[in-house]
Amino acid sequence: MQSDFSRTLVTAALPYANGPIHLGHLAGAYLPADIYVRYLRLKGEDVVFICGSDEHGVAVTITAEKEGTTPQEIVDRYHFMNKESFEKFGVSFDNYSRTTLPVHHQTGQEFFLELYRQKILVEKSEKQLYCENDRMFLADRYVEGTCPVCGNPEARGDQCEKCGTWLEQTQLIDPKCKICGATPVVRETKHWYFPLGRFQKELEKYVDSKKWKENVSGYIDSWLKEGLEDRAITRDLHWGIPVPLQGYENKVIYVWFEAVLGYISSTKELSQKRGEPDLWKKYWQDGQTRYIAFIGKDNIVFHTLIFPAILMAWNMGGKSNYILPDTVPANEFLNFEGKKFSKSRGWGIDLKDFIEVFPADTLRYSLALSLPESRDSDFYWKDFQARVNNELADTLGNFVNRTLQFVQRYYDGKIPARTKVGKLDEWAIEQMKKAPGSVGNLFGDFRFRDGVVEAMSLARAANKYFNDSEPWRTRKDDPEQCATTINICAQLTRSLAILLSPVLPNASEDIWKMLKLDGTAAGAGWDNAAEMKVESGKETGDLKILFTKIEDSTIEEQIRKTASGEPAVGPAPLPEAAPIKPEISIDDFRKVDLRVAKIVACEKVQKSEKLLKLEVQIGKEKRQIVAGISKHYKPEDLVGKNIIVVANLAPAKLMGLESNGMLLAASTEDGKLTVLTTATDIDSGSTVR
Ligand code: 2FM
Ligand code: ZN
Repeated sequence: MQSDFSRTLVTAALPYANGPIHLGHLAGAYLPADIYVRYLRLKGEDVVFICGSDEHGVAVTITAEKEGTTPQEIVDRYHFMNKESFEKFGVSFDNYSRTTLPVHHQTGQEFFLELYRQKILVEKSEKQLYCENDRMFLADRYVEGTCPVCGNPEARGDQCEKCGTWLEQTQLIDPKCKICGATPVVRETKHWYFPLGRFQKELEKYVDSKKWKENVSGYIDSWLKEGLEDRAITRDLHWGIPVPLQGYENKVIYVWFEAVLGYISSTKELSQKRGEPDLWKKYWQDGQTRYIAFIGKDNIVFHTLIFPAILMAWNMGGKSNYILPDTVPANEFLNFEGKKFSKSRGWGIDLKDFIEVFPADTLRYSLALSLPESRDSDFYWKDFQARVNNELADTLGNFVNRTLQFVQRYYDGKIPARTKVGKLDEWAIEQMKKAPGSVGNLFGDFRFRDGVVEAMSLARAANKYFNDSEPWRTRKDDPEQCATTINICAQLTRSLAILLSPVLPNASEDIWKMLKLDGTAAGAGWDNAAEMKVESGKETGDLKILFTKIEDSTIEEQIRKTASGEPAVGPAPLPEAAPIKPEISIDDFRKVDLRVAKIVACEKVQKSEKLLKLEVQIGKEKRQIVAGISKHYKPEDLVGKNIIVVANLAPAKLMGLESNGMLLAASTEDGKLTVLTTATDIDSGSTVR
C-alpha cells in the first residue's frame, strides 16, 4: 500500500438514472470499489467513497419519450431505485448524489465558464446530423450507425459501447434517426469545443507517470497513438445544464463533460451534509490525496484522458489545483449466462429483483470470484449455486458453526484455554498471521478476485486444522489439546470475520455477534486479524446459520426463467387495479381545488388506531386535517413533506376532531398505501392541475 499519501478519494462511475442497475454494473465498478473502500477503512485510512446518479443526457430523454413522461419523472424513479439497490447490497458510499442538484449545475457551469474565460474553449460552426422529420439535431443517442472502428452496427452518436471509441456523429457509417428511423441530413450548427489535442503531450506525460492495469493501458495507448482531436462539449438539447453564455440559451453542456464533474459536486454535497463546507477541497485539491476512479471499460477514455484534461485545463487558470486520478482500475464486462446483458432484450438480472430471492452477501461473494478484472467474464446460475453451497455454506459456514457448536456443547458456551500448542496448532496460527498481509496486498493491488480466494483459503485451512486435530477424539483422550484446538479455531473465526468483511459485510458482523466481541468486524482493524484476541473464558452468543444452501429446484427455476426470456428473478406480475369510474368532464374535475400543502406538525389521535392529526400550511393559511394513515406512517416521517390536499372539501368531524380538507393517497386493494408528495420542493399553496 502506498504510504506517501495521507488520504484516498474513491469514486465509482455515476450510473445513468434511466434504468435499474444490474449484476453487470455491480461487477464492473461498484463491488470492486466497495471491497477496496471497506479494506482501506479497516486499515484505518482516511477515505471517502463518492458516487451519485448521472441524470442528464439523451439516455434519459429517450426513456422519457418512450414512456410518454418527463425526464424528471424518469430520473426520480431510477435515482431512488438504484440508491436503494446499492444500500441493500451493502455498497457503502459516503455520498450518493444527483447531477440535477443545484450544487452540480453550479459546478458544471463554473468549469465551463472558467475554461471559456481562459479562452481554452473554441467556438465552431460544424456539420451535424439533423432529422428533417423530427426537426432536430440528433445529439448522441438520438442517432445510431455502424462504428467506423470495430464495425458494431449499434454505435451511438457520441460513443461506440462495444469498442469504447469516442466518436463524432458524422463518423458513423449509415446513420439512422433513433426516433423515426429516417436517414438524417447534414446541417451546420454552432458549438463550443474542448481542444483535447492541445493536451496530448501533457496527457502522455501524465499517463506515463502512473501505473495502470494492463487492460486499461491498452485502450489509452491506442487513443494516444491515434491522436486526440477537438470535441464538441455543447449540445442542441433542453435536458441538461444550460450553457451559461448569451446566444446559447437553447443548448446544454454535453453530458460527459459535466458527469465526471459530478464526483466533485457529490463531494461538495457530502461536505455540506457534514457541516464542513470546505472539506471537499482536502480530497480534490491537496497533493497528499490519492484519487482512485472505479469504472467499467466503456468509460475508460473519459476517465483516463478527458477528465484529466478538463482538470489540467482548470489548473492552468491558477485559481486552484485539482489532483488527477492516480489510477483507474477499470473492469471489462460481465456477461450473463454466456450473453451480453441487454435491457431491451430482457437478458440479465436487476439487483432489485435478485435481492428478493438471495441474500446480498451470496451475490457479493459469487461476483467477486467472477470479476472481469482483465477480460470479460460470466455469471452462471450454476456457478453461483456451487459457490454458495460449497464455499460459503460448506467451508466458511461449516467451520464457524462446528467451532461455536463445540464451544456451546462442551465448554458451556465459553472459550476454552489454549495451553498446549503443538506443531499442528503452530501451523494454524501461522496461516492466520500471514493472511492479512497476503490478502491485503492483493486488495491493495486491485486484485479482488485473488484477494477473496486468498481470504477463503484461510477458511479452508481452518477446516483442515479442525479435521486434522480431531477435537471429537481429543475431547476424551487429551482434553488440554482439545481446548487448545477449539481456542485456536475461535481465533481463526474472528480473523475470518475481519478478512472477509470487505466482501461479506453482513456475514462478518453475524460472526462477530456470535463471538460476542466488542464493536464491529468492520471496525476491528485489518492487521488485528493476525492477533489472537478472543480471550479464554469469554462467553459466546447465540448460534446462527450463516448461509443456507440453495436447492437445485431454486436454481433450476432461475435457469428456466432465464431461458424463457422472463426476467431472471422477475418482478411481481402487474396487480389487478380497481375498475375505472364513469367518465367526467373537465369542468367536473375543475371543481376540485387541489393544492400543495406542507405538513408542519403531526401527531397520533389518542385512542384511535388509524387516525393522524396533521397541521398543514397552504400558502399563508394553516389548517388541521385528520387522516386515516396511522398504520402506514409515523408522525415524524411526515413532518416537512409537501403533500396534495383537496382544499375545498366540506369540513368533517372525525373522532370529535375537525378536518378541513383531505389529503391524497394511493392505495391498493390489499391495503398498501402511500401519501402523494411532490417530487421536488415547491411553495405550499401551489395549485395542482
Ligand atoms: O456509463 C455510464 O453509466 C455513465 N453514466 C457513467 C458516468 S461516470 C462519470 F462520468 F460520472
Ligand atoms: Zn427522425
